[in-house]
Amino acid sequence: MAQEDVFKRIVSHAKEYGFVFPSSEIYDGLGAVYDYAQNGVELKNNIKRYWWEAMTLLHENIVGIDSAIFMHPTIWKASGHVDAFNDPLIDNRDSKKRYRADVLIEDEIAKFDEKINKEVAKAAKRFGEQFNEQMFRQTNPRVLEIQAKRDLLHARFEKALNDNDLNELKQIILDYEIVDPISGTKNWTDVRQFNLMFKTQMGSSADSTMDVYLRPETAQGIFVNFLNVQKTGRMRLPFGIAQIGKAFRNEIVARQFIFRMREFEQMEMQFFVRPGEELKWFDHWKHTRIAWHKALGMGDEKYRFHDHEKLAHYANAATDIEFQMPFGFKEVEGIHSRTNFDLSQHEKFSGKKIQYFDPELNQSYTPYVIETSIGVDRMFLSVLCASFEEEKLDSGDSRVVLHLPRPLAPVKCAILPLVKKDGMPEKAHEIMNMLKFDFACKYDEKDSVGKRYRRHDAIGTPFCVTVDGQTMEDNTVTLRDRDTMQQQRVAIADLPAIISKECSLNNLLKTLPL
Ligand code: GAP
Repeated sequence: MAQEDVFKRIVSHAKEYGFVFPSSEIYDGLGAVYDYAQNGVELKNNIKRYWWEAMTLLHENIVGIDSAIFMHPTIWKASGHVDAFNDPLIDNRDSKKRYRADVLIEDEIAKFDEKINKEVAKAAKRFGEQFNEQMFRQTNPRVLEIQAKRDLLHARFEKALNDNDLNELKQIILDYEIVDPISGTKNWTDVRQFNLMFKTQMGSSADSTMDVYLRPETAQGIFVNFLNVQKTGRMRLPFGIAQIGKAFRNEIVARQFIFRMREFEQMEMQFFVRPGEELKWFDHWKHTRIAWHKALGMGDEKYRFHDHEKLAHYANAATDIEFQMPFGFKEVEGIHSRTNFDLSQHEKFSGKKIQYFDPELNQSYTPYVIETSIGVDRMFLSVLCASFEEEKLDSGDSRVVLHLPRPLAPVKCAILPLVKKDGMPEKAHEIMNMLKFDFACKYDEKDSVGKRYRRHDAIGTPFCVTVDGQTMEDNTVTLRDRDTMQQQRVAIADLPAIISKECSLNNLLKTLPL
């Protein structure tokens, strides 16, 4: 099945099984805003717990905060968001649709890549086992011709972005005859900058209102609290401040489900270090973070780093952790060495000294910062995509199963009486009451046991416990494993240890490098 179709299946599965709903659905939805449903919220909370505990429990020198979404508007002036948090947009006069000029051009570049991939696929079919893809890409005249055209466009595009040259972006769109996918015309307006921050007013009377922004990142809430945390927590460098919270961006092009949203959630950690030591710590966090991802066991080959060639003016190193989504490798997390830019800017704009006195060096300075910033929703999407399988069974049957990393599963154990009589429901409730303090459990007595297994496969429940006639005699149950579908007979008393071994977040945390 084409990856595009797989993705559509995942999106509809997420709705059908109570993971993600479109926001305000009965009013026909709200663009790029989503609600997490009964299973989705549990999965999301488990992801957040995994991140929070990996940061704050495993590192003695990282503490958490929860700063407000509204902040003083000057913060966004200092951070550069008022002046530079823009996307270049262009409108089509016929369809009246708005696009990101850079995305239209990126899509055009992607068409060249697709053409090359088609040539490669054709040749692979023709040459079979003998095919040497690398050699073909480097020598085939047709591929080289397409590649040269692609590189030319890419270089022109990159220069226009670097020079912030909006006229040149429009000229590229015209020169490459890029048409509006809806109207099919080239009737474009000029390219303009569009600020992504949502603005609103705070205050009750006309004189006292002021413009405030919904934060576009949680990071600034950390920077402006640097001194508060450092002093009250008696923190010594190097140390980190972690935060999880909502962020808002008025994205022009919102697509790919929860990949690009207008309201989303971030998990950010700013690690403050001595100037000159930042690249060592950048490397440290790069490896620590990829290990955190890989520990989930979704396949090491699904991750890659994408080091930034073009750095923001204040950064001296940056990389993305990309995950293989059905629509290609995409950024899930960014790791940035942001120098002392943010703290210095806040010092300048607030007029307050923001420095750290280093007792070992006996001097004060503005700390440098390594930032790790991951989107909760993108992480959620990566987990969903990697776990989803439409499995053909030996019996000729098929099932949809979510092979969720077990500690993240919304329900760890389903408890199913085989029939609704002979004391089985009561026994099942007894087991539920024993387990529910440690694990998220669900009691389910409706439909045949086979149907109940399928329902729990579809939401990724690692274990199903079935209470049957034998249970009433010897206090054993059948324990069915989601992935292997194997069933074994176990004593009720052994259930906590078995479930805990596989599903406990602590065990997962213990696999992380310290
Ligand atoms: N403080 C740095 C910062 O905000 P970013 O690369 O703009 O950096 C960090 O965002 C992460 O936030 C991204 O890697 C992504 O996972 C997530 N993110 C950004 N914009 C998003 C959006 N519109 N929808 C969902 N997640 C988003």
